[in-house]
Amino acid sequence: MIKIGIRFKFIFFTSLLIATIGLASSWFFSTQTRSQLEEELKKRGYSLIAQLAQDGEVKDSMTVAQKAFFEEPITRLRNLDIERELAYWRVLLTQDNILLEEKEKWIKTEIDKIPVHKNIEGITTPVFNVFTTDNGEQFYNFVVPIHEKRTIAEEEFAAHFFGLEEDSDQNEEKLLGIIQIGLTPERINKKMQVILWTRSIPLGFIIVLVGICVSYFIASGVVKPVKLLVKITDKVASGDLSQKVEINSKDEIGLLASQFNQMTKNLKQLIDEKEGVMDELKNVNRELSLINNELVQKNEQLNEAQEQLVRTEKLAAVGTLASGVSHELRNPLSAIKNAVFLLKRKLSRKAMPDIDGKTIQFLDIMDNEIDRCSKIINDLLGFTRVSKPTRFSSDINVVVNEALSRVVIAKNIKLTKILQPNLPMIMIDANQIDQVLINLVENACQAMVDGGELKISSRVSESFMEIEISDSGCGIPEKEVKKIFDPLFTTKPRGTGIGLAVCHGIMQKHNGAIKVKSQEGIGTKMFIRLPLEDKDAGSV
Ligand SMILES: Nc1ncnc2c1ncn2[C@@H]1O[C@H](COP(=O)(O)OP(=O)(O)OP(=O)(O)O)[C@@H](O)[C@H]1O
Ligand SMILES: [Mg+2]
Repeated sequence: MIKIGIRFKFIFFTSLLIATIGLASSWFFSTQTRSQLEEELKKRGYSLIAQLAQDGEVKDSMTVAQKAFFEEPITRLRNLDIERELAYWRVLLTQDNILLEEKEKWIKTEIDKIPVHKNIEGITTPVFNVFTTDNGEQFYNFVVPIHEKRTIAEEEFAAHFFGLEEDSDQNEEKLLGIIQIGLTPERINKKMQVILWTRSIPLGFIIVLVGICVSYFIASGVVKPVKLLVKITDKVASGDLSQKVEINSKDEIGLLASQFNQMTKNLKQLIDEKEGVMDELKNVNRELSLINNELVQKNEQLNEAQEQLVRTEKLAAVGTLASGVSHELRNPLSAIKNAVFLLKRKLSRKAMPDIDGKTIQFLDIMDNEIDRCSKIINDLLGFTRVSKPTRFSSDINVVVNEALSRVVIAKNIKLTKILQPNLPMIMIDANQIDQVLINLVENACQAMVDGGELKISSRVSESFMEIEISDSGCGIPEKEVKKIFDPLFTTKPRGTGIGLAVCHGIMQKHNGAIKVKSQEGIGTKMFIRLPLEDKDAGSV
């Protein structure tokens, strides 16, 4: 949609108003001038006809009906008609005889088309009328009666033509006839045209032009501050509340500007207050979230401590039970072991050549199972007796290689070692860490029954020595990950569930940690971390 500005509207309507006033005043001026000119024409008309009517030669010529006597007065009349407005003249005798009639050559209308006053007898006073002929020519028609004796004075003419005289006793005198003259308003029309083209139109044009200029300046004076206000309002709307309208006039616009400035100031104050409150709220929120984070952290620590406590208590309980049971089982087991040894000697092929092969095989099975039981007992005892580490400065890569050399790794497992060279020496109980690594490598191998890849890497991470053992085995289901460090938790048919519990105990005693990341069906990563600087460890 086209936007029509206030300036355009103002100029348009003001110009329209000025043009209307200009037109009206020029119409009024023209009408006034015309009626003035018409009055003057009328005056000239009656003055001319009065000259004729008062001329004695005219009266004589009418009395004797002699055209020749008329020449002189007519010449005088023509001389008096300086403006050349006399269009026609006519002398009528009482018996309806036209004595003489003439029209000027420049008049187009035929003389017989100019109305003749039929009832001459009825004309007692001068008559005036205006008529327009068929071809559009207009005439101011003057008629005056001529009496035998009486002569109408000039004042009487005027009174008659302007309808001021009331009664007269002219009827008593003998009427000779009438004189009729016609004046053309042609000169007035021309003068009016000249006035129109030389005064009214240029004046109207100048009025409109001046009006447009004046209204343009007035509109600019009004629109300029309004535009400024709009511009500032836009800036304020887009958030810049520092804007101020610089209009100091004492009118309504000035008042609007000062109220607008006040409004912006109030708004700024409100926004500042709101921002202050918002900042405070943000601070409170930040503090709350800090407290919340602390709470979450504390809660996690609490949960861990609780789990630790449960594990420790469980370990202690299992340890007590295990040491008791192991102690009680050791003696009977060694007695059985001795008995089996003796039986094996007595039933050997040397002593009894025809002994059944199956008997010796059974004795071997018994012997092996007794050994397995002893191992379990030893493990249990070892687990319960994880002693305080005896630390020596050690090269962790050497410990890793040592542990790997003590584990039988199946041929279908590919071993990859990524050991960072020149690692710093670290204060550890190499035997215990060896035990941890063996347990972890064994678990990894046991998870890859169908083969896979075993990766061992060592590195320094932050202030820790980190060893990662990863396998591409079966992985640990999510719900079991939390339980794997619990003593006696096992998913293996011949497992004891002690290995990782022992590892956890050892790492704790070294102020280190053991962590797991596993994905079922993809593999497991075990991380052990040992502090490079340990307050309990002494110097390297
Ligand atoms: N690398 C691994 N991949 C898959 N499962 C693992 C892995 N390591 C540990 N586990 C799971 O954790 C359980 C506990 O392991 P842990 O070493 O404590 O006992 P175990 O291996 O079952 O028996 P043992 O006492 O002979 O070591 C395992 O039974 C096994 O389910
Ligand atoms: Mg194990």
